[in-house]
Amino acid sequence: MDFLAKTSDAITEMEIRHLNTVRELAGECLVLLENDGTLPLRIPGRIALYGNGARHTVKGGGGSGEVNTRNDVNICDGLEAAGFEIASRGWLDRYDASYDATIAEYISKVEATAEERGVPVTSVYFEMAPEAPVMPDITEDDCAEAACDTAIFVISRDSTEGRDRTPTKGDYYLTDEEDRNLDFLSDHFEKVIVLLNVGAVIDMAKLKHRPGINSILLVGQVGNLTGDIVADCISGKVNPSGKLVDTWARAYEDYPFANEYSSLNGNTDDEFYKEGIYVGYRYFDSFGIMPLYPFGYGKSYTTFTNEVLSVTQEGTDIKIWVKVTNTGSEFAGKQVIQVYFSAPEGKMDRPYQELAGYAKTDLIYPGESMNLEVSFPIDNFACFDEDYPAKVIPQGEYIIRVGTSSRETRIEAVLTIADTVVKEKYDRILEDDARYLFEDLKNPGTGKLAHQAVDQAQLAACSRRFTLDVSRVRRSIIRYRGVSETHMDQRQGETLTLGSVIGRNAGVAEFVAQFSLEELAELLVGNYIRDIDEDEIFSAAMHVPGAAAETTSLFEGKRRIPVLVLADGPAGLRLQPHFKATRNGDLLRGGEVFGFNKNPFPEDTPADAIDYYQYCTMIPAATALASSWNLNLIEQLGHLVGEEMEEYGVHLWLAPGMNIHRNPLCGRNFEYYSEDPLVTGLCAAADTKGVQSVDGKGVTIKHFACNNQEDNRMFCNSHVSVRALRDIYLRGFEIAVKLAQPFCVMASYNLLNGIHTANNYELLQSVLRDEWDYEGLVMTDWFSSYEDVEFLGYDEKALKYPPAFSRLCVYAGCDMQMPGCEKNARDIVTAVNHGRLTLSDVQNAAMNFVRLVIKCL
Ligand code: BGC
Repeated sequence: MDFLAKTSDAITEMEIRHLNTVRELAGECLVLLENDGTLPLRIPGRIALYGNGARHTVKGGGGSGEVNTRNDVNICDGLEAAGFEIASRGWLDRYDASYDATIAEYISKVEATAEERGVPVTSVYFEMAPEAPVMPDITEDDCAEAACDTAIFVISRDSTEGRDRTPTKGDYYLTDEEDRNLDFLSDHFEKVIVLLNVGAVIDMAKLKHRPGINSILLVGQVGNLTGDIVADCISGKVNPSGKLVDTWARAYEDYPFANEYSSLNGNTDDEFYKEGIYVGYRYFDSFGIMPLYPFGYGKSYTTFTNEVLSVTQEGTDIKIWVKVTNTGSEFAGKQVIQVYFSAPEGKMDRPYQELAGYAKTDLIYPGESMNLEVSFPIDNFACFDEDYPAKVIPQGEYIIRVGTSSRETRIEAVLTIADTVVKEKYDRILEDDARYLFEDLKNPGTGKLAHQAVDQAQLAACSRRFTLDVSRVRRSIIRYRGVSETHMDQRQGETLTLGSVIGRNAGVAEFVAQFSLEELAELLVGNYIRDIDEDEIFSAAMHVPGAAAETTSLFEGKRRIPVLVLADGPAGLRLQPHFKATRNGDLLRGGEVFGFNKNPFPEDTPADAIDYYQYCTMIPAATALASSWNLNLIEQLGHLVGEEMEEYGVHLWLAPGMNIHRNPLCGRNFEYYSEDPLVTGLCAAADTKGVQSVDGKGVTIKHFACNNQEDNRMFCNSHVSVRALRDIYLRGFEIAVKLAQPFCVMASYNLLNGIHTANNYELLQSVLRDEWDYEGLVMTDWFSSYEDVEFLGYDEKALKYPPAFSRLCVYAGCDMQMPGCEKNARDIVTAVNHGRLTLSDVQNAAMNFVRLVIKCL
């Protein structure tokens, strides 16, 4: 094997360039929640630093979303490098001792459990959370040691795929020690700054109102330079300009059906999306529930005003020009202008308001202004009408609200649609056979009532009113796929290769027609290892160690189909940073997996083994990225990832993740962008464009769809109304597909309305391909159709639902089963031979695969 990894571990020019890019951009992802002027600390001085994230800063979440980096800058180191003097070493050392002991105990517990159950340690890491290390109390002696007036307290939370978070102390809530220490700090220090190094929402109710806290900065998880990025914001080198992409509630119970989420109601088999379309601010605003921090909220070191200059229609877009002025005197800054609309009341039940579009200014200097354009298609007013069923833009008056958060807007226009536009009619699909069990929430109008006085006054003062010309808004006729033909070999006597297709000497169908059924079946599964064992499960990628999988190598010879390498994200590339191989290029065992799961190099590693290095950059986790509200920034970071793929020989990135933040406790929220589908779709499209701007590199948007729960994630059945599916859970994917044509889509683990998504024809064929014109390949999530569920850590007898079936994957349009196993291929062959699957279905999937390979060359 020839590896592209380096044989020297010296830092490369590309690494330096990429680290600089991340540092330059990521400050925009941080959200300033509170500030009385304490921040920034412009002259780096002596500070007392405490909290579990001071030295153990969480750079991103765990599991496949990890990135194994060369080095990580924690907040303590970052501040020190920026010239701050850390005056709390005694306390930090005491916390380190407690941390080390807890983690050592945790690792032995995981290893023992894995051994006892005969399952891979990775699956136990996923399911078993470490206890929060006991945090020492900050004492009078610590204060004496500190001898300074400013304290910084870092609250960190980590989460991972495979398990949900819990509404407990140490996770959603602060621990007693954190509470006590914060009290102590506010009593003993003149200035107290709290940094939230968290991937998702935590309880902030007490903290927000705690006297003696001067500033709260939501750092999020911004990659391996988190410490430097924080230092840049704390010192004022960068003015944080992020805005929340989720609603932070006053109490966990304020989220809809909060206590029925995931394991909380004792049922992880079936998850009922009873809130329907009322997710996030759509719920809080419609139901008149005051959030603690609203969606879209975020402060700055400076202040801004905004004045709407015009609202016009141009073609099928609405364009709003806004003059944004920096009214402060000291700091330059960026502002985000958000446009919401309230749809007309009528037949359709609609939320109080929905995001229609947004834009971010450039850096505006004090006293200066910038005219900013926010533009969005009229299509963004559409919703799903179950009666047709169709996507419609209902007639009536659309109230346009412009501002800087979902709760700080002004009514700036009223736009009329004279007649309902029926954009596209759909087949009656995706319905739930258990729908009789619940009815979606409906807008009770309480939110509207609460805002009535203000709304009426603003409406009365609003003079921009006009009727939209919708004659050019696109109406499409959906043609659902019928039975497809089987391709017979027309070129007998010739041996077609991939080169024949690329050289236009043969069509994809002609090429595929030359494969036997058995060969076709092998094309549709990954490069599986026949004798799978515990740590090989994650090293199935031989060309680029640490990648998540490869496509089959069986046809490299005769058919010249190269292997494609697939590696995780979404916060960069997850590869093994250091591996060893023999002089003949045979990969040797050992090397970092992720998190605490390291695989030491065995003692019998040959002395003359060659060391290889492939260090990747960790970019901000998806939620932090989205918090920048800067699509250009996301595209640039996507391009950076694309360049690293090129450098190390990765073809497909298993990212971005785009599930909706339905509930703050989903273990993977950090990997996903937002509670809002428009933000989600636009961010994923930007990320996709960035990666795919590098020739031959593609993304895999995931997990399609409704993977909003991690407990029992492979066998959980999400029951969702078609309305909520279309308007919330599928919408982000639809935007990303239509704007950026990702190379691949990954189906999710869960069942959707009774059918595994990887087996769901209506989802993968009718919606994704027929309705959205998706041209790429669909793959399973890892081991979705793997037969040995015990091996994956599940007790087969306790399962309510079976795993996904290989045969149905192919039938449904899930072309590739990853990382694949022998039985997957065998099942496909048997199904065709028994008439339970057609050869043309298999050929169709194979053609999607061949087209993908060509795109990646
Ligand atoms: C995750 C995917 C990931 C895959 C490969 C699965 O456990 O759900 O998001 O891409 O593993 O690592």
